[in-house]
Amino acid sequence: MDRIAIVGGATLEGSIPISGAKNSAIKLMAASLLTDAPLRLTNMPRLADTRFLARLLRRLGTEVTEQDGVDGPETVLHTPEIVSAFASYDLVRQMRASFNVLGPLIARTGHAKVSLPGGCSIGARPVDLHLKALEALGAHIDLNEGYVYAQAPRGLKGARIEFPFVSVGATEHTLLAAVLARGETTLLNAAQEPEIEDLANCLNMMGARIEGAGTATIRVTGVDRLAGGDHAVVPDRIEAGTYAVAAAVTGGCVRLTNCRAEHIQALLSKLVEAGVEVTPTPDGVQIRRGPERLRSVDVVTDPYPGFATDLQAQFMALMTLAAGESVIRETVFENRFMHVPELARLGADITVHGGEARVRGVEALNGAQVMATDLRASVSLVIAGLAARGETVVHRVYHLDRGFERLEEKLSNCGADIRRLKGEEDAA
Ligand code: EPZ
Repeated sequence: MDRIAIVGGATLEGSIPISGAKNSAIKLMAASLLTDAPLRLTNMPRLADTRFLARLLRRLGTEVTEQDGVDGPETVLHTPEIVSAFASYDLVRQMRASFNVLGPLIARTGHAKVSLPGGCSIGARPVDLHLKALEALGAHIDLNEGYVYAQAPRGLKGARIEFPFVSVGATEHTLLAAVLARGETTLLNAAQEPEIEDLANCLNMMGARIEGAGTATIRVTGVDRLAGGDHAVVPDRIEAGTYAVAAAVTGGCVRLTNCRAEHIQALLSKLVEAGVEVTPTPDGVQIRRGPERLRSVDVVTDPYPGFATDLQAQFMALMTLAAGESVIRETVFENRFMHVPELARLGADITVHGGEARVRGVEALNGAQVMATDLRASVSLVIAGLAARGETVVHRVYHLDRGFERLEEKLSNCGADIRRLKGEEDAA
């Protein structure tokens, strides 16, 4: 398995183009199951996760064609008919979001058998809200031997669904099922992430009738069928936020292009508080930091528009070098501090109590061998490595490859000393 080696200390200067959002792209790919016409997704990221989902979709009957369009990578998905409504454990365990094919399969064929995703390194991550919403829409659900068996032979029907707490996945999954349900569906306490608005925009382009996406109340009027069409994937706000933090940790000046600064406002405000200069540009944002030391800043993760849990590990890496003490509270996932012991290997001073980490800034980090535990945790180790003295080697880079496109190239184009080491890593 590959590793990434970084020699820290280089100042980042230049520009980094932001790719399409992974967490939007995979839901948009699932949306293609809802129509027998081709859906062309532009601004597509090329990632391990999009490849996993393409493999599953092909088994269900989708022709998936990746091509280079005039504006960059695109994927055409075409499902003339569903040839199988079965998603096996082997496919779903590789990527949890594969579970989101359940709703479209029921909506289009009236039945499906999809593996439950199981837990993951950042938390238990149940799917009870997804299943309750599908039941509210009229699906009959049985759980047996790790599989969801769903039936709705007479189709789904609209319902009023109030989520007890905000869930991105359950909101998206409900939308994917409700667009073809008879009558009106109302989602209350819906997630407001930009990826949800992106999914709704794509579905509306296909002929769905969704209002209010991006707010806590979404109304869907079901339609009989959806068409295909073209849709550009929203820029990846987590990738943009990650490189903003990377620029802040090394100092220098980096322009992030093809991104939407308003989607990372909570992070940008915290960077400004810490002493980073943030300047909006016509197609993104510029991040500049001078030689002075950063200030410690407290952070609480929250659903959008709050501070993204997917940027918590990266921001913690930044705070390990700031002057003073920073308190970072994680409220979305119960076990999202797996990066803490790895950051400690680089010399960070962090203590964790429950959902709260206290980060006491140190003068310097020192390079070491560290292990990636999940996607965002891995990139926090890269960020720390960019600032550490000497060489840092990040093991288990496959986590990174799930969600960061051409990471080494994008960083080395700005002057980072980072390279991929191909081959074996130590046994676990
Ligand atoms: C999405 O996960 C993202 N994944 C996550 O990014 C992101 O961290 C998360 O939203 C929050 O922003 C994708 O989009 C593929 P949730 P999701 O449902 O939809 C609990 C990354 O690194 N919950 O909003 O799974 C859940 O356990 C990933 O790209 C239930 O209890 O997140 C969590 O504590 C990691 N029951 C909280 O809700 C349910 O049925 C929020 O989860 C559903 C969720």
